[in-house]
Amino acid sequence: MSHKSPKDFFRPLAVGAPAPLREIPARPSRAIHFFDPSNEKMAAKVPGMIGTVDVLLGNLEDAIKADNKVAAREGLVKIAQSTDFGPTQLWTRINALDSPWVLDDLTTLVPAIGDKLDVIMVPKVQGAEDIHYVDRLLAQLEAKAGIQRPILIHAILETARGVANVEEICGASPRMQGLSLGPADLAADRKMKTTRVGGGHPGYLVRQDPPKDADGNSQIDAQRSVFQQDLWHYTIAKMVDACATHGIYPYYGPFGDIADVVACEDQFRNAFLLGCVGTWSLHPKQIAIANRVFSPSVEDIAHARRVVAAMGDGTGAVMIDGKMEDDASLKQCLVLVELAEKLAEIDPELKKQYDAIEVQA
Ligand code: GLV
Ligand code: MG
Repeated sequence: MSHKSPKDFFRPLAVGAPAPLREIPARPSRAIHFFDPSNEKMAAKVPGMIGTVDVLLGNLEDAIKADNKVAAREGLVKIAQSTDFGPTQLWTRINALDSPWVLDDLTTLVPAIGDKLDVIMVPKVQGAEDIHYVDRLLAQLEAKAGIQRPILIHAILETARGVANVEEICGASPRMQGLSLGPADLAADRKMKTTRVGGGHPGYLVRQDPPKDADGNSQIDAQRSVFQQDLWHYTIAKMVDACATHGIYPYYGPFGDIADVVACEDQFRNAFLLGCVGTWSLHPKQIAIANRVFSPSVEDIAHARRVVAAMGDGTGAVMIDGKMEDDASLKQCLVLVELAEKLAEIDPELKKQYDAIEVQA
């Protein structure tokens, strides 16, 4: 098999298309807030949300009725053309590659608003071939429309084959910006026996061993603690490793139980701790949760700065509050400090909180 030369990955796939990026910029994207561009009431709220959310995403795929597909596409064009998005990124989720709508999605959106679209989310990605298709088509459309910077691709991990192929998907194009977990479609595709959109399940648990009576017999029916387990741990961990390997960004996905803000926060925080940079928001109240969870806490930044200050040139080891800190814990602290700096640039409230931290000796 003859492989493409590494050099060729950085040549445009169409004459006149913008040169591919060599690094994907680490732009804050704690919440990707989904809106339905065919819903006029929802669309009217979009300009007012600029600056309050890192990413606004015009959704064209699932949750948009077949009869509204064209209205959603046209609504997105109208909103994008008439709105200055300032610091907020504009993304879209196109229809699936096997749907009757996706070709019109791409051939309409790129010429009309390609200069405003930062990222195109592609659902139900199965393998590198899906990314190659979109990659070439985007290059052709960008060239034709005279777009100056490449539109990036974000894939949703929501098929069993997609999870099996996650590495090749991440490395399929220099346009790859990141991946999101799509727990609802993934559950269906894998034939999981759940009926929810993301989150846990009370049946997926481990149980404490039974206590024994005086004769050493197990008391099967005794009260025992149970601990719910995370259905998504394996997939998120696999996604995080694949993304980190390829220098792109992992995200949690939808959490469908809008009323359960507590479990939503837990699920988001698990993803944050495992390495994700953000999540989806399906309701304005999930934006606040995501912004809080995906911003390092003031306590973590206070500790991280203390370690950075104590570690001098970064080599050796020091004791802080009875705990050993060395090169490796310093590197973890730097991940948090650098993220905090990036977020402070766009979030004045957060900047105030981080600035107020006094570094302890
Ligand atoms: C998202 O698209 C999902 O299927 O969970
Ligand atoms: Mg889906």
